[in-house]
Amino acid sequence: MPATTRTEHVDQVMFPRQAAAPAGPVDLIGMYLMHYAFRRDLVAFAAAVARTPVEDRAAWRALADRWTWFSTVLHKHHRGEDTGLWPLLRRRADAAGDRVGRETLAAMEAEHAEIDPLLQACAAGFARLAAHPDGDARDALGVRVVAVGERLSRHLAHEETEAMAMVQRYLTDAEWARVEHEYFKSAYAARQLPGMASWCLHGLPAHHLPRVVASMAGKPLELLWRLLWRRSFERRERRAFRHIWPYV
Ligand SMILES: [Fe+2]
Repeated sequence: MPATTRTEHVDQVMFPRQAAAPAGPVDLIGMYLMHYAFRRDLVAFAAAVARTPVEDRAAWRALADRWTWFSTVLHKHHRGEDTGLWPLLRRRADAAGDRVGRETLAAMEAEHAEIDPLLQACAAGFARLAAHPDGDARDALGVRVVAVGERLSRHLAHEETEAMAMVQRYLTDAEWARVEHEYFKSAYAARQLPGMASWCLHGLPAHHLPRVVASMAGKPLELLWRLLWRRSFERRERRAFRHIWPYV
C-alpha cells in the first residue's frame, strides 16, 4: 500500500553531524536536537581544553561548570532512554520475536554504562584545572575529552541508525509524545526552559530554526530567545569558551 505508507511517514530532520534519520511515522526532532547539542558541545570542549591557557583560572572554572551542565543533561537523556524508551521498545520487540532488536537495546544500555565513568573522569580533570595551573592534568583531560567525544559519537550513530529505526517500527507518534513527556521533558523544571532552549538552539543553522522552534513552543519562545535568553546564554558561553569563541 504505497500511498498509505507515504502518508504515514513524516519528513525527518538531519542536523549537523547526525548519522541517520530512519524513515517512519514518528517525528524524532526532539531526540535529534539533543544529539546535535551533545555533539556540538564535545567538539567545543575538545578545542577549549587544547587552547585555554592553564593559567586562566576564570576560564577553567567556567569550563568546569559548563561540563557539569553538559554531563547532567546527557545523564538525564540516558536515564530517560534506559528507564522509559528502551523498556517499552523491548516489550514490543519481544512481542514481535525480534531478537536483533533486543540485542540493539542491550547494546544501547552497555554503551551508556561505558560513557558515564568517562564523564566523571573529565569532571575531575576540569575541577583540577579550575584549582591549579597543571599542564599534565590538561594533557590528560584533553585525551579524556576526545575519548568521550569518540565514544559518544559512535553511540549516537548506533542509536540513530538502529534504535531509532525500532522507534519507527514499533511506536506511533502519540506513543512517542507520551514517552518524551514522561521520561525526557519531565526531567526539567519550567525555570530551566530558557537555559535548555538556548543550549539546544545555539549554533543551529538558520534553515532549521522554524521547524525546531515550532516543535518547542512556537513563536513566543522564539521571541523570548531572540530578545532575552540568547544574550545571557552567550555571555556565559563566552566566559567558558573565550579562547575559542565563537566556537560555532
Ligand atoms: Fe538519544
